[in-house]
Amino acid sequence: MDHGLTRRELIACGLAAGMLSSLSSGAWAARRARNETTMEPKLVTVPQAIPEKVYTTERVGISRQTHDEHLKLWQGYANKTNEIRKALAELEVDPAKANQIYSAIRALKVDLTFAYEGYINHNVYFDTIGGQGGPATGAIADLIQEAYGSFEKWAADFKATGIAGRGWAFLAYDHEEQRVFNYIGDAQNTFPIWNHTVVLALDVYEHAYYLDFQTARAKYIDAYLQVIDWDAVNARLKAALR
Ligand SMILES: [Fe+2]
Repeated sequence: MDHGLTRRELIACGLAAGMLSSLSSGAWAARRARNETTMEPKLVTVPQAIPEKVYTTERVGISRQTHDEHLKLWQGYANKTNEIRKALAELEVDPAKANQIYSAIRALKVDLTFAYEGYINHNVYFDTIGGQGGPATGAIADLIQEAYGSFEKWAADFKATGIAGRGWAFLAYDHEEQRVFNYIGDAQNTFPIWNHTVVLALDVYEHAYYLDFQTARAKYIDAYLQVIDWDAVNARLKAALR
């Protein structure tokens, strides 16, 4: 029986069926008429709840309400990541339409970095709080000692970095130089340093602390330093070094 498509094309059409709901029937029909198929977009998991351990930060004044409100923003980054990935999968890529001033592919790819990195930053933030805080333990403690001389010096630098940042402070492992460093992030997608792994992320946007500390960001960071989950940080470092 002649379907007008090869067997491979029929299989590809079947695989793409899962994204039919996100494509308008008109757009899909047009693609099929041109004998085109698209890759199914890889989607991120939208967080459904704050990890239970995170609520233990109430003991230092970072409230349950702050985290519950924060969850909505975390979900927003995940949902927008998925929305952009679906839009990119549907985009009819044409180099002649690409433009550095404005074009659909530029808009989608620039904002993908904001959405996806916003998602990743919050994944690290919520994974690495809800612990006992205090001096670092394990392998990360050795790296901090090596890079900053002492935990106290590292903590002072991390606090200053958090005060100086407009959105984030990151403790990252530099695979190039095999050392750690405290970096500033002014937005979700700034300032990336390649060949690094972020093992600790401190959210210093007002939404992370205003309900509990108003404008006293330094007090929020003091509280944060008492609830870092160093086991989680070491797990991230171990995975990065594997
Ligand atoms: Fe946030």
